[in-house]
Amino acid sequence: MKTSHVIVFLVMAFFFSLSASRDTITPTQPLADGEVLVSAGGTFALGFFTPANTTNRYVGMWFNNVADRRIVWVANRASPVSNSTGLLSITTNGTMVITDQKSNKRAWSVGTASTGLTAPAAQLLETGNFVLKQDGDDDTRSYAWQSFDYPTDTLLAGMKLGLDWITGFSTNLTSWENDVDPSGGAYYIAVDPNTDTYLYTSSGVVVWRSGPWDTINFRSKGLNYKYVNSSQESTFSFQEGDRPMLFVASATGKAQLFGLSSDAGGQWELAWEEPSTQCNYFGQCGPNGICDASASPMCGCLEGYVPKSPSRWASENWTDGCVRKAGLDCRNGTDGFVVVHQAKMPESAIPTPTPSLDECRLACLRDCSCVAYANDGGRYGCAGSTTRFWTS
Ligand SMILES: *[C@@H]1O[C@H](CO)[C@@H](O)[C@H](O)[C@H]1NC(C)=O
Ligand SMILES: *[C@@H]1O[C@H](CO)[C@@H](O)[C@H](O)[C@H]1NC(C)=O
Ligand SMILES: *[C@@H]1O[C@H](CO)[C@@H](O)[C@H](O)[C@H]1NC(C)=O
Ligand SMILES: *[C@@H]1O[C@H](CO)[C@@H](O)[C@H](O)[C@H]1NC(C)=O
Ligand SMILES: *[C@@H]1O[C@H](CO)[C@@H](O)[C@H](O)[C@H]1NC(C)=O
Ligand SMILES: *[C@@H]1O[C@H](CO)[C@@H](O)[C@H](O)[C@H]1NC(C)=O
Ligand SMILES: *[C@@H]1O[C@H](CO)[C@@H](O)[C@H](O)[C@H]1NC(C)=O
Repeated sequence: MKTSHVIVFLVMAFFFSLSASRDTITPTQPLADGEVLVSAGGTFALGFFTPANTTNRYVGMWFNNVADRRIVWVANRASPVSNSTGLLSITTNGTMVITDQKSNKRAWSVGTASTGLTAPAAQLLETGNFVLKQDGDDDTRSYAWQSFDYPTDTLLAGMKLGLDWITGFSTNLTSWENDVDPSGGAYYIAVDPNTDTYLYTSSGVVVWRSGPWDTINFRSKGLNYKYVNSSQESTFSFQEGDRPMLFVASATGKAQLFGLSSDAGGQWELAWEEPSTQCNYFGQCGPNGICDASASPMCGCLEGYVPKSPSRWASENWTDGCVRKAGLDCRNGTDGFVVVHQAKMPESAIPTPTPSLDECRLACLRDCSCVAYANDGGRYGCAGSTTRFWTS
């Protein structure tokens, strides 16, 4: 009798040690290459991974039960460990580090020793937030560090993109260099507090602007999003909806939205992307040019304008755009306007709360430096533009 009890006990202990997963690392329980953390409800996993065609090892996060593995966050994105000897650990004074146990080199570290954590722990939460904190303290305000503050190329539900005016802290999405290299690439998505959210290159060239968020049909794509512009913050975020979604700055220079399909295993399906046509690239046809993706050639000039450099224009180099055929008569009463539909605001446009479109027109006519005006049906009042007019 006695021996059979002992045998049962041992078998069960063995079973539990195999199946138990953990969501936390502590100074005495680091995470070695080959192990994974799984969040309490089983949604997210975190561990070492290798992108295709390389031997580099990174610490990354993915959806635990989705067969189509997409890395949604990378810790040491620019400093991989070269062999499977990496270790994610916490020092007793509260910093989190990735070291190569073979060479003893430190590849990455976050947190500072001055945070005063006496029992530091890093926990992978069900939201996909990986937080460094005092073990057992769940007060979000006391986190010493959190991955939600340092997104890589992907915005998860609950993460905020943009600026916190109180702390001065800002976040952006930075694309991977390419499919197999998560280090910072050429594209960023950031929130411009004066206008909207935009995608731009590392050299500062704006590729695409969202325009006002309510003109993007994100809700029909299942994205329960929120754009806040207040004295506290200027942020873009979204909440968990019917299915998991990801907002991504792609290495190919696009803002993309992925939704998880409901079939077994699950696939990340592209639900939306911009720029979706050549014309949606910002300023594609140059100043005063007008873009029509279904036309050939794609670029034309606004009425009353001609190509600035006819030979370049003829060879489909649109950089120089168009110039006015005849100068403005300003105030002598012969100037007028032509209507251009579906244009985005130029970057320099400053909305003023002028009530009607007609007042908007008269205000622009009276101002000799105003070349265009816009009104989107009352939401943003009147916007006059004093510079070259870019359509998009
Ligand atoms: C990896 O390399 C193979 C063979 O060169 C290539 O076909 C494949 O596209 C590469 N994968 C990625 C993600 O670059
Ligand atoms: C990684 O492992 C390979 C094969 O074991 C070895 O040749 C190489 O020197 C190691 N690299 C480092 C940085 O330790
Ligand atoms: C914190 O711990 C790390 C590793 O143990 C050590 O290198 C570092 O000097 C310590 N910092 C302080 C301020 O104690
Ligand atoms: C984007 O965020 C990263 C990480 O916080 C930061 O290093 C970088 O300077 C930011 N880039 C821009 C252009 O704001
Ligand atoms: C957003 O808020 C900031 C700070 O309060 C303000 O300067 C800016 O004009 C606002 N932008 C828009 C588009 O309302
Ligand atoms: C287009 O023209 C601009 C000058 O207007 C020049 O700088 C640029 O290199 C040209 N682009 C191509 C692709 O030839
Ligand atoms: C407006 O008319 C006056 C007199 O007819 C003329 O001298 C002036 O050049 C005109 N202004 C413009 C901008 O054409």
